[in-house]
Amino acid sequence: MQIPEKLSEIIKIAKKVCVLTGAGISAESGIPTFRSGGNSFVWKGMPFEQISSAQMVRDDLDAVWEWFDYRRKIYKDCQPNAGHIALADWENRFEYFNLITQNVDGLHERAGSKNVLELHGNINHSKCERCEKVYEMSAEDVPHKPETCEICGEKVRPDVVLFGEMLPFEIFQKAENKSRDCDLFFIVGTSALVYPAAGLAEIAKYSGATLIEINPEETPVTSFCDFTLKGKAGEILPLL
Ligand code: OAD
Repeated sequence: MQIPEKLSEIIKIAKKVCVLTGAGISAESGIPTFRSGGNSFVWKGMPFEQISSAQMVRDDLDAVWEWFDYRRKIYKDCQPNAGHIALADWENRFEYFNLITQNVDGLHERAGSKNVLELHGNINHSKCERCEKVYEMSAEDVPHKPETCEICGEKVRPDVVLFGEMLPFEIFQKAENKSRDCDLFFIVGTSALVYPAAGLAEIAKYSGATLIEINPEETPVTSFCDFTLKGKAGEILPLL
């Protein structure tokens, strides 16, 4: 992959840089994406949008836990890849750098990124359904624990944003502000189908940022990007 010369020049002088990542950045670490190649992930006969939904927490919390424990078991043995590591380095490279992720796998932190805005939560956190006390689990805690809240005795659930739920207000507001005020906005490894996260690219673009997509496939944002780098994040990010 040849990086366009014009883009190299823009990157050299950029001061404020934002990156939005999605499941694709972790694909090279062995974590399956949700929707690549025109297919959607199905688990035990259920589309992931169903098992990862607020309705499912109400109907069958045990099934939801089974799905999240299954994923935590996969994530435990996965390592950050060259894409995560490149982005961790970018914290020292640009004057202002903000990493925003839709991923819940924690691989950005494990690669050394210190300030990550996790829009969809973290798979190693759970919270009480009643008093909202948050519990941190180790990757080894499969199945999850505790099962009930140590304070009020209510059931705990994954501390992850599910379909039908709002994003954490403060984190999203910060992501929105950073997207509105950057020179470069990279959208990496996301199908750009899930809002409001996908809307951050539009906010950045209409606020004057140069928009760059890194993805082997086309997405709904491809047509309004300034640069499209078609390929794998783990190969392209280190080149940049
Ligand atoms: P998707 O699974 O929807 O999209 C993954 C994207 O990554 C696709 O566009 C792929 O083409 C691209 N891709 C695959 N391999 C790649 C690689 N090596 N390098 C770069 N790109 C690659 O994942 P997201 O867009 O992250 O939400 O999905 C958004 C949200 O939908 C997720 O956060 C999750 C899901 O429901 C929640 O769980 C709340």
